[in-house]
Amino acid sequence: MPASPTPIILGNWKMNHGPAETERFFAAFLPAHRPQRERTVVLFPPALSLAAARAAAAARDDIRLGVQNVHWEASGAFTGEISAPMAREAGAAAVLVGHSERRHGFGESDADTARKTAAVRAAGMVAVLCVGETIEERRAGDAAAVVARQLDAALGDLHPEAVERLWIAYEPVWAIGTGVTASPDDAGEMHTEVRARLRAAFGPRADGVPVLYGGSVKPDNAAALLATPGVDGLLVGGASLEPESFLRICRAGA
Ligand code: PGA
Repeated sequence: MPASPTPIILGNWKMNHGPAETERFFAAFLPAHRPQRERTVVLFPPALSLAAARAAAAARDDIRLGVQNVHWEASGAFTGEISAPMAREAGAAAVLVGHSERRHGFGESDADTARKTAAVRAAGMVAVLCVGETIEERRAGDAAAVVARQLDAALGDLHPEAVERLWIAYEPVWAIGTGVTASPDDAGEMHTEVRARLRAAFGPRADGVPVLYGGSVKPDNAAALLATPGVDGLLVGGASLEPESFLRICRAGA
């Protein structure tokens, strides 16, 4: 993927929208969404809908596609999994890694996210590394430490050049799908922590790594979140499923 202008707006459809619904989404979204040279838009349909998304958006190089998860091996006896090289061949330019639903719903460890981050980068795609604390961790005052641990685990073995295909999404677990958004102040504070950790790992090169916010982003809070210092973009779940609400988020603050 070429250098990506910010803000970056990502739509994570999770386990929603099969191929037919994907076609319907793009049929409504694309004519209404004007290419914006100063923004990057990436949609993450279910892997089974990637071909439909690719066909629908074939004439639009302003819309990029990704997948929500991959295995760290390139091929082999891993029933039900897909690999990073396969995702790339099928048209994905980016992969979500370590989403909280993978960590908390499917038991993915920090070591798993490290292997996946490396595999995605090795396949030539952008790894969107998702980090974030639970409400219990936040109440205990551990939010920054948890996020630092998740970052260090995934980034520890990466070469400094890795920053070129690395995006971070800070997504507090308590804000995902709950309708509760981090306040711009809380988001700003955590983004500062993330940036400091990236600098510790990669030095000044880290300043080129976009840090996105995710968790109950909606059309009516997107502009304020995008205006928050340190927030380079948004990772949108539920509000990316409907063309109209995702359109409004893609235009927020523009
Ligand atoms: P949400 O999901 O916008 O529905 O809270 C965000 C995400 O899980 O990436």
